[in-house]
Amino acid sequence: MRRFADRHVGAVGLGCTGMSRAYAESEPNDRRSVALIREAVDLGVTFLDTGDVYGAGHNETLVGRAVRGIRDLVVVGTRVGLVADPETGRIRCDGTPAYVRGAVEASLRRLETETVDLYYLHRVDPEVPLAETWGAMAELVAEGKVRHLGLSQVTVAQAEEAHRIHPVAAIRSELSLWIRDPLGTDARRGCAGGHRSADGQENGDGRGNVVGWCAAKGAAFVSYAPLGRGNLRVADVVRKVAERHAVTPAQVAIAWTLAQGGHVIPVPGTTRQSHLYENTRAAGVDLSEDDLAELDAAPGCVTGP
Ligand SMILES: NC(=O)c1ccc[n+]([C@@H]2O[C@H](COP(=O)([O-])OP(=O)(O)OC[C@H]3O[C@@H](n4cnc5c(N)ncnc54)[C@H](OP(=O)(O)O)[C@@H]3O)[C@@H](O)[C@H]2O)c1
Repeated sequence: MRRFADRHVGAVGLGCTGMSRAYAESEPNDRRSVALIREAVDLGVTFLDTGDVYGAGHNETLVGRAVRGIRDLVVVGTRVGLVADPETGRIRCDGTPAYVRGAVEASLRRLETETVDLYYLHRVDPEVPLAETWGAMAELVAEGKVRHLGLSQVTVAQAEEAHRIHPVAAIRSELSLWIRDPLGTDARRGCAGGHRSADGQENGDGRGNVVGWCAAKGAAFVSYAPLGRGNLRVADVVRKVAERHAVTPAQVAIAWTLAQGGHVIPVPGTTRQSHLYENTRAAGVDLSEDDLAELDAAPGCVTGP
């Protein structure tokens, strides 16, 4: 289990957005997707990740249908701040308070709920001061439309700025064996093993040690794309660790993400029952310090993405 705010959630969450075609009209198998989400909840996967931009709201509608009758069992996280042009599909930011206020009403309707558990700002709008957008989101908490606020792909400095206005309950960024930027400079330098430092300093890709910042502030770090977006080209060391534990490389990848801190919640995406089972069971893979050191230190321990 992991903690999110005042809730306990399954250690491995579920990224639902792949069930709608990202950023575009989708041709999904909705019935199968709804069944998969419900099966996930049966397996103890209670941290669901969606967003209003995926399939132009379709993904939230799916999640809303899936959690009918079991809404209290799950934490639903969704996002605001990206808008897809209906004709071109082109994505732009909109962090204006007026947009945020309208968007949350639409998300609540689609999610068939009165309150969103975790409402993320999907991207900081370069045209709108973060304080304005975040202030508008904080009003939604005061109005009871949203329980907690989160940020996505921000710098430590942006997280600090937002946190001074209203607590940041979670930050979601890409973190995996393949992409280690949120851990800071040392970790980015090809598996150099610096990722367990928690100083939250501004370094690395300029975003800083966001994982460490979250730990220090009691926020969750939600790692999206923990499977490298499905690119599981892995080097021998990953296979060796997987063989040692009699698990799959995907499970090692998720277990590695979980090992980055007790506040880290990976949200692997899947549309398949077999992968759902596999990913959920990764929470039981107990990587040793030696395993982690090997994964961290081996040059080229991963290839790609
Ligand atoms: N904030 C952002 O800007 C942003 C950007 C990208 C993604 N995301 C979020 O992050 C979530 C996860 O990202 P993601 O889905 O792109 O990447 P991911 O979780 O790293 O990878 C998902 C891909 O891996 C495959 N997969 C899942 N389990 C597997 C397993 N056990 N073995 C082999 N392949 C497996 C899936 O295919 P199958 O369907 O066949 O299982 C899918 O193609 C998304 O749902 C989305 O919410 C956010």
